[in-house]
This record gives sequence, structure tokens and C-alpha cells, in this order.
Amino acid sequence: MALIFVTGNRHKFEEVSEIAAKHGLKLEMRDLPCKEIQADELEEIARQSAVDACSSLGKPCFVEDAGLFVHALRGFPGPYSSYVFRTIGNDGLLKLMASIGDRRAEFRSAVSYCEPGSKPSVFRGRVKGSIGFEARGSKGFGFDPIFSPDKGDGRTFAEMTITEKNELSHRAQAIKRFLKYYAQRKKAHR
Ligand code: IMP
Repeated sequence: MALIFVTGNRHKFEEVSEIAAKHGLKLEMRDLPCKEIQADELEEIARQSAVDACSSLGKPCFVEDAGLFVHALRGFPGPYSSYVFRTIGNDGLLKLMASIGDRRAEFRSAVSYCEPGSKPSVFRGRVKGSIGFEARGSKGFGFDPIFSPDKGDGRTFAEMTITEKNELSHRAQAIKRFLKYYAQRKKAHR
């Protein structure tokens, strides 16, 4: 039986499905018209979204919330990444950073899993990297064209395949932690 990943983002679903498949788990994508809360912590947003999604589906499911934290901007846009991407986008963020030499940034991810009648669990992941001076690459989504992970070869996430991005990404780390927990939980309930 497939496990439900509640998201409206097909790119996220493809990234996560690739990892889940390697763990022998099939995922089902469900885009629910849930309203995401606004909060300063990704974990809090993910936890609340998981509870809402689980109660509306009446089934176990997980959600993922992510954000880009720019060091010189004191963590902005962080939990407001979605709004900032929709409004000023990559061009706007690059303009905002035009005179900033410190290009350090990180992506963070919070995955939250919830079962009916239980409290949600949260799993985190992060990847350090830097913001470029121009957008590069056409794969991926969101801020991928302007972010190069430190442990990569200089390419942006948008210049990598899903498999390459999954070797380094914040989301992949959080999902792998969750999948380990999920497998143990399944085993214990068998
Ligand atoms: P969400 O709330 O988890 O959908 O993420 C907020 C925003 O952060 C998205 O709209 C994207 O612009 C950006 N974002 C999250 N994860 C990634 C990623 O893996 N690559 C690039 N941008 C991302």
C-alpha cells in the first residue's frame, strides 16, 4: 500500500519518490487545499500541516516544509521562502544581494509524519552552500538555479539530476531520517 505524501509540488514528489523507491516504499501524491500556517519555525509549520492533512484524510501521511536561509540576511527568507519566491523570485533575491560579498546560505527541510490519533513526528535536514551571482540551470524548482551546495562540484541544484541533488539535499536528509523511523515503526507493528 502506498504512503501518502501531501504536497502540491511535483518536483518535491519526484525527489522524495526516488528515495522512497530505493527503500522499497511507494508514495502517493495528494494535493490538499489545506491552508499552511505562517510561523517562524519550519518544524512548527510542518507539524501543523501534518496534523491538518491527517485529520482531513483520516489516514497516515507526511508533509515537508523547506526554506532558504541566507546568512548575510540573518536567515531571510527562511520560513517565508514561498512568499519571497512568488513575489521577488530569484532575480529579486540576486538584486537584494548584489553588493553582499558573504554568499553563504543553507536550505533546511522539515518532514512531519502523522497517524490518526497520534502526535506528529518531525525529521530535519539541511545543506550548506552559497548563492551565486546569476541563475544557472533549468532543472529543479524554486531557488535551485541560484544555490550551489558546498559539497558539490560548483554546479547549482538546477544543473543537477534528481539523483545528484538527492545525494546532497536538505530534503533527502530529512526524508532518509523519516524513512528509517517509518521502517522501524512498521516492523514493530507487524
Ligand atoms: P515550501 O513551503 O516547502 O513549498 O517551500 C518554500 C519555498 O522554498 C518554495 O516555494 C521554493 O521556492 C523554496 N524551496 C524549498 N525547497 C527548495 C529546493 O529544494 N530547491 C529550491 N527551492 C526550494
